[in-house]
Amino acid sequence: MGFPQANSMKFETITVGHRGPTTLVTLNRPDKLNAMSTMMKEELIRALHELDASEKTRAIVITGAGQKAFTAGADIHEFQGRTPIEQWRMYEHGTLYDAVDRTSKPVIAMVNGYCFGGGLELAMACDIRIASERATLGQTEINIGIIPGGGASQRLPRLVGLGTALKLTLTGDRIDSAEALRIGLVDEVVPHARLEKRTFQIAERIASRSALAVRLAKTAVRASVRLPLDQGLRYEQSLFALAMASEDKDEGVRAFLEKRDAAWRDR
Ligand code: COA
Repeated sequence: MGFPQANSMKFETITVGHRGPTTLVTLNRPDKLNAMSTMMKEELIRALHELDASEKTRAIVITGAGQKAFTAGADIHEFQGRTPIEQWRMYEHGTLYDAVDRTSKPVIAMVNGYCFGGGLELAMACDIRIASERATLGQTEINIGIIPGGGASQRLPRLVGLGTALKLTLTGDRIDSAEALRIGLVDEVVPHARLEKRTFQIAERIASRSALAVRLAKTAVRASVRLPLDQGLRYEQSLFALAMASEDKDEGVRAFLEKRDAAWRDR
């Protein structure tokens, strides 16, 4: 499949290519199993920010270059000599994981291989995870004497439950994609050869909807992990009321009654 590169965006450690309404962001250090250096994280934050503002992009897919890895996590080489103050400063302006979480457009992790440590945290920050049968996943920080620092202690239990999250985090063990699907860590597993096709199919299906409705729906569902039930239900009602005021609601209802496809205006 061809992905024309985005001209405006120049990066060293990632590539950004468009196909129709979907933009593919590829972590591009295959010789290092796409380990995420500070530069890569900064470039990803910048790309997400620009894509969220771009009219062209309606869905974002994140994957890893090469045949082996989504990403083997944070670049371990950079841990050597990093002081606590330096680490603290890295959080000051918001992390990659915050940036993915805050992207208003749908973000899909296309997990094509190794997905460890910060790589799993990146996948968990995304909205949907589609994995290759070849993928291996793990919250592996404990193996090098540290703990997750990119959100796993909070996002993993919300996805898989407390006991399973603790088992993965405390053992550092790796699991295959079938097990990841069984525990709810990924949402679909497909044969490796079909991974890209299936992921883009999902992205394009979402992209065919009203972008405004997609955005409101994503906001409401993502709030469910942050808000107590009563507040979450009230929040959903407010967003629903907002959706009722949209041009796309008028168009969607009219199209249904006239038995035709809707022509969304995304407002
Ligand atoms: N950070 C920096 N470099 C990494 C890396 C990481 N997280 N993971 C892999 N690499 C590099 C290796 O150092 C190696 O580079 P080199 O060829 O210059 O020595 C290259 O990627 C290939 O890795 P290698 O270990 O030779 O591949 P493998 O197929 O034998 O093993 C893994 C793959 C993923 C099992 C193994 O690399 C690994 O355990 N990586 C660390 C995963 C991890 O715990 N991540 C969380 C960090 S907090």
